[in-house]
Amino acid sequence: MKLIHTLAQLQSTLSVYRHPAVVPTMGNLHAGHIALVHAAKPLGDVTVATIFVNRLQFGPKEDFATYPRTLEADCAQLDAAGCDIVFAPSEKELYPEAQSFLIQPPPELADILEGEFRPGFFTGVATIVMKLLSCTQARTAVFGKKDYQQLMVIRQMVKQFNMPIDIVGLDTLRAEDGLAMSSRNGYLSATERKEAVLLSHTLQTLADSIRGGRSNYAELEAEAMALLSLAGWKPDYVVARRRADLQVPQTGDALVVLAAAKLGTTRLIDNLEV
Ligand code: PAJ
Repeated sequence: MKLIHTLAQLQSTLSVYRHPAVVPTMGNLHAGHIALVHAAKPLGDVTVATIFVNRLQFGPKEDFATYPRTLEADCAQLDAAGCDIVFAPSEKELYPEAQSFLIQPPPELADILEGEFRPGFFTGVATIVMKLLSCTQARTAVFGKKDYQQLMVIRQMVKQFNMPIDIVGLDTLRAEDGLAMSSRNGYLSATERKEAVLLSHTLQTLADSIRGGRSNYAELEAEAMALLSLAGWKPDYVVARRRADLQVPQTGDALVVLAAAKLGTTRLIDNLEV
């Protein structure tokens, strides 16, 4: 496996390949990320993982400064997974000047749910993903459904800009108790880690109620929010939305339930297709 820090070296290394399959990450890798690498491997003639903590997608009060940077351990995991190239550029390499051209996803998708609570987040994500897909000459790129809205933003961007890239979405990998794996789980204390399972349980209960025939979504959402609040969480949202565009569902729509909530100072997100 080759660890590359510069665009020049990336370009020259990639020149002999025709179909890079790319897994963009912010590092601090866990089994969920590694599952994406395994999925990417058969989809291209070279597997590239990118590691870059993207300042543009963090709000002023968010955890950019403290986001865990664990390059050595990440590389060991990627090497073991059979990744060929790790592209881990510095900020200066990727943003040599202030990034004044930005990719602005449409407000009906980017200003709801995550975008409502993290203003500018999806502009930051779309801009860096555009850059990373371009730098790595991606022909296939693999993302997790854990970040359901992010995956939707990226799919729409690639479609509207006619980028010749297949976007593959992979199911969320979970710990044994059901907690979705996430780099931010590392912020949880031992007690919080045990309590954290409530988020996926809440979504499971909501999904079960809907499968059981209940369609009073607003009531079900309010019940789920109240349950989390009672347990000491600070929920941002728990909603049932239609899978196609994350808008409020009509009868017959295929659904996804999504939640974001803070446990202590750690903000966790999760979702389940119903
Ligand atoms: P990061 O949070 O590091 O996640 C990188 C990729 O791993 C994303 O596609 C995410 O959905 C996926 N992922 C995270 N947890 C997962 C899990 N439990 N199961 C399966 N996949 C999982 O998402 C980002 O980074 C950034 O926003 C990025 C796209 C790299 C742009 O900066």
